[in-house]
Amino acid sequence: MTTSSPNPDTTPTEVYPLELRDITCVFGREPHTVTALDHVSMHVQPGELVAIMGPSGSGKSTLLNVAGLLQRPTAGEVLIDGVSATTLNDKRAAALRRQHIGVVFQRFNLVPTLTVGENVALPLELDGANVAKLKDDINAALAEVGLDDMFDRFPEEISGGQAQRVAIARALIGPRRLLLADEPTGALDTATGDEVIGILRDRIDQGAAGLLVTHEPRFAGWADRVIHVRDGRITTREV
Ligand SMILES: Nc1ncnc2c1ncn2[C@@H]1O[C@H](COP(=O)(O)OP(=O)(O)OP(=O)(O)O)[C@@H](O)[C@H]1O
Ligand SMILES: [Mg+2]
Repeated sequence: MTTSSPNPDTTPTEVYPLELRDITCVFGREPHTVTALDHVSMHVQPGELVAIMGPSGSGKSTLLNVAGLLQRPTAGEVLIDGVSATTLNDKRAAALRRQHIGVVFQRFNLVPTLTVGENVALPLELDGANVAKLKDDINAALAEVGLDDMFDRFPEEISGGQAQRVAIARALIGPRRLLLADEPTGALDTATGDEVIGILRDRIDQGAAGLLVTHEPRFAGWADRVIHVRDGRITTREV
């Protein structure tokens, strides 16, 4: 006997570079708890830059840290390229982050005792690569952000805008599929800020996915979509 009824199990689920499913993130202990994220669900497509906006304390950095596997949520699931990170132990989650995700922090987070080139190489080195053999790749990453010939400078010998570009080169190096930036323009003038977002935008146009936390409508204008966060919840989505 044959049957023509469709099998629901064969329906493909879409795989995104980043998907957050019903994420809740609570800090502190009762009775002094703060719900930084409250049932947040979202995803980012390849080639898409999503801006996150919202008041101070609304949960933007927490959302980015959860997406970047830097902070474990209290509940919910984070999927990176369809892989559920929630069930991974810390070591495996860190490896997944280093291999797939580039993070640009607001305060650059460059290591002062390492040169510009060594800072850029850090994620690859942590992953076991031999930096001496990667000099061409690192110089290419520096050239991509307009910092040719800066490999041997130390962070204190470069400007704030240049330091932010080093942080971006470090986030871009290797086959990053997901780029996360927490107010990368916070310390920059508008022209330098536009340059920095432009570099991110280029890489996203080549197929990466990105999340950009910003207070500035000017910089949010580079995004394909803006998500507004308030009190740990997504309040609006603009296309
Ligand atoms: N490690 C932590 N322990 C306790 N509370 C925290 C912690 N991290 C964040 N919070 C709280 O969670 C809420 C969201 O913080 P978050 O840093 O995500 O806000 P934000 O939107 O990034 O703000 P800002 O625009 O000021 O950077 C805030 O009330 C904050 O005080
Ligand atoms: Mg923040």
